[in-house]
Amino acid sequence: MTDTITIRRPDDWHVHLRDDAMLTVVAPFTARQFARAIIMPNLSPPVTSAASAAAYRDRIMAALPDGSDFTPLMTCYLTDDANADDIAVGHAEGIFTAAKLYPANATTNSAHGVTDVAHIMPVLERMQTIGMPLLVHGEVTDGDIDIFDREAVFIERVLEKLIRQLPGLKIVFEHITTVQAVQFVDRAGPNVAATITPHHLHINRNAMFAGGIRPHAYCLPVAKREQHRLALRKAATSGSAKYFLGTDSAPHEIHAKESACGCAGIFNAPYALESYAAMFDEEDALDRLEAFASENGPRFYGLPCNEGRITLERRSAVVPQTIEASGSTLVPFHAGDELDWRIVRS
Ligand code: NCD
Ligand code: ZN
Repeated sequence: MTDTITIRRPDDWHVHLRDDAMLTVVAPFTARQFARAIIMPNLSPPVTSAASAAAYRDRIMAALPDGSDFTPLMTCYLTDDANADDIAVGHAEGIFTAAKLYPANATTNSAHGVTDVAHIMPVLERMQTIGMPLLVHGEVTDGDIDIFDREAVFIERVLEKLIRQLPGLKIVFEHITTVQAVQFVDRAGPNVAATITPHHLHINRNAMFAGGIRPHAYCLPVAKREQHRLALRKAATSGSAKYFLGTDSAPHEIHAKESACGCAGIFNAPYALESYAAMFDEEDALDRLEAFASENGPRFYGLPCNEGRITLERRSAVVPQTIEASGSTLVPFHAGDELDWRIVRS
């Protein structure tokens, strides 16, 4: 039985670091685990210009402890009136690594999102030309589509068409939750990849209703049936270069989660790698953790793999019920559970 594993330092290809006081609480957790992270732009107001992304990047670096070795990779929040030239300049200047498509009103702070992909075709054409990845929150927002079907319907209505229209566009289908998404990504060309979160690998939709309503298991896209979770575990551990790590760590204060209308988002940054390692171990696939966590992402983005290494050991630790800092109380994913893997701190 393998009891320690050393891999290249991983990256997180999808994280919400927030801003202000919350940023100072949560950013150090991500920087401790990951060398780089794709930073979601859904602040209020959203990050839509290179200038605002550069300023946000500076705030992230200022929020980290001295000596942190962490690079935030910034993204542009696409709106209906996004400008192809501005985005291409931001990319050429090294400020924007990618651009993010939120369908309008799909999730937290997405009111400014895109109402119809047709509105941003000139931007997407330019991104295809310059090789800039499009990151997609893949859910339709129509109230008449059942919430558990929104990802599958997005594939049918939006993604299938988009890859026909722009066959060379690099697309990351983010935080996939369904067998339909796995099939879509598997069938598409090498320019289409997907991230998978720790929570969608560990929980199915029952977790939201275990003995009562469980707001800390609620995120978007919402967890689906068990058959979908099993398809995600198979995809993540398959060895396919199309799947890589993206936590979608999305912290909200405890009172915003435990509310009559609780926010979507699971805060998994503190134990993200331990959570993935436990899952790969359960699937007898620890030898594939490094590709998923540290190699497939940089290869897709055309970036070098990290040179540093990180070691995990088999030693169980209980995840705390809450994390408190700077007046905030956050409930981490796996709160109160035992995880069998720990990062060995040097
Ligand atoms: C995210 C958030 O809170 O910003 N929530 C979530 O459930 N994942 C938004 C998002 O990425 O959908
Ligand atoms: Zn997200």
